[in-house]
Amino acid sequence: MARHYCGLRNLLICVCTPFCCLLLLFTYAAITISLSLNRVSSLPRVLVTYNPRSVLPESRKNVSLPVVPTTFWEHQSSAYWNQLQRGVDGHFNPILNTKSRNRSVTVHLDDSLLRKSFFEAIRMDHMKKKREELPPAMQRYVSHMQRRSYPILIQPNGACGAKAKHEERTPLILFAIKSSELNIKNRQAIRQTWGQVGWVQGQKNSSNEEEVGGYVRRVFLLGKENSQFLGTDLSHLLHAENRRYGDILQWDFEDAFFNLTLKDVLFWSWFSRNCGQTLFVFKGDDDVFVNTPKLISYLHEELKKPQARMKEFMVGDVIGDAMPIRSKTSKYFIPDSFYKGIYPSYAGGGGVVYSGQLARRLHHISKTVHLYPIDDVFVGMCMRRLNAHPVHHPAFLTFDFPSTEKEEPCTDHTVLLVHKRGPEQLLEMWAELNRTRTQCRDVPLRAPVTKKP
Ligand SMILES: *[C@@H]1O[C@H](CO)[C@@H](O)[C@H](O)[C@H]1NC(C)=O
Ligand SMILES: *[C@@H]1O[C@H](CO)[C@@H](O)[C@H](O)[C@H]1NC(C)=O
Ligand SMILES: *[C@@H]1O[C@H](CO)[C@@H](O)[C@H](O)[C@H]1NC(C)=O
Ligand SMILES: *[C@@H]1O[C@H](CO)[C@@H](O)[C@H](O)[C@H]1NC(C)=O
Repeated sequence: MARHYCGLRNLLICVCTPFCCLLLLFTYAAITISLSLNRVSSLPRVLVTYNPRSVLPESRKNVSLPVVPTTFWEHQSSAYWNQLQRGVDGHFNPILNTKSRNRSVTVHLDDSLLRKSFFEAIRMDHMKKKREELPPAMQRYVSHMQRRSYPILIQPNGACGAKAKHEERTPLILFAIKSSELNIKNRQAIRQTWGQVGWVQGQKNSSNEEEVGGYVRRVFLLGKENSQFLGTDLSHLLHAENRRYGDILQWDFEDAFFNLTLKDVLFWSWFSRNCGQTLFVFKGDDDVFVNTPKLISYLHEELKKPQARMKEFMVGDVIGDAMPIRSKTSKYFIPDSFYKGIYPSYAGGGGVVYSGQLARRLHHISKTVHLYPIDDVFVGMCMRRLNAHPVHHPAFLTFDFPSTEKEEPCTDHTVLLVHKRGPEQLLEMWAELNRTRTQCRDVPLRAPVTKKP
């Protein structure tokens, strides 16, 4: 009996001791993990409130320093883009990098930081493996994504795009329109309609007879058609077009969908060099309709508001909290091995208006963000870096009119922009807009949602 009892006790010891040990180990692990998770999630709050710009000496205040990253992408993720960006972020992170704690340091930004982080990252073995796992189109993209300087092939001969002969004031707006070599008809329709250069009158209404207007300029942004697919070289046509209209800006890269971001980056650089005076930029596609007179009146109203806003003025069809598209059949497909996180809010690329000041700041800050294959998302990332927020306006219809809406005689007078419209439609709509100008003069724009950031 006693032996029996002893055996039972031994059995209890044998079973219970390891069990207790495991329990202790588990508790320890759980506490450690939860502590380290807390540390990670509290990090961004520290980073966001750190603003190096506020402590700069007066004379340097006009230099836009990179703000420390906020957290729309997953910092810890092993996705390809996230890892590349981490190298750059570390540089501006006051906790990880003691050099940037020196707040009197002026940052002279060039591409070297991006290149350094790119080459450091791709040398790592796990990044090589990661890259091989990407879909073929993405691999092609990745093999060029560190390059962002391409020579200009054709540019307007006047500074800052086509303009009217006698411009007496600083230009109000530059239309910068993404086009491609083959879209000759689109360009021609735009030149004859909403993209006419020179003095353009704003839209008057019965409560406001004040004459407002502004000088408009125009430039088309192009890459090169793949001449292997095209079987011919169109460059002589394009040169002729530029001799006639002076509004072509073409760079030596292939005009592919994933290369569209290059047009933004290179345009900002060109704009910063050539367009010192221009107040606003419209950047959009060559298949949109723009109600230029209304846009001019709208911008005049904006100019009456406090000038400090102009530093970060961007308006368009703002898309918030979007997730990357993971459906392989979509043209916007981004595998999660390339990017993890949500997108910052961004203005749909069909058409967006921002201030010239902001364009120069975007040029600067873009040197701290790795290229992203979707152009409007990349612009959103740069905006977030500047701590600036695009403003949504319902009169920018980058997804066309709601299908439930009936067409009324004055419908086109309620919008600033509609996507998407072909060249023939542009001519028709423009004629109609002029025909109904008096009749529809008091039709207001679709009401902006008033929201305070
Ligand atoms: C910044 O201001 C200084 C003098 O106040 C000026 O010389 C310089 O051109 C300005 N830089 C930019 C980028 O505007
Ligand atoms: C901080 O920057 C200033 C100016 O660039 C330099 O003179 C100073 O030595 C730096 N201090 C440290 C601790 O790096
Ligand atoms: C972008 O342009 C470069 C230079 O022409 C080209 O080598 C690359 O393949 C293009 N990228 C894509 C995704 O087509
Ligand atoms: C008339 O135009 C002014 C300024 O352009 C604007 O503030 C006002 O709302 C407009 N009125 C109507 C009825 O559209």
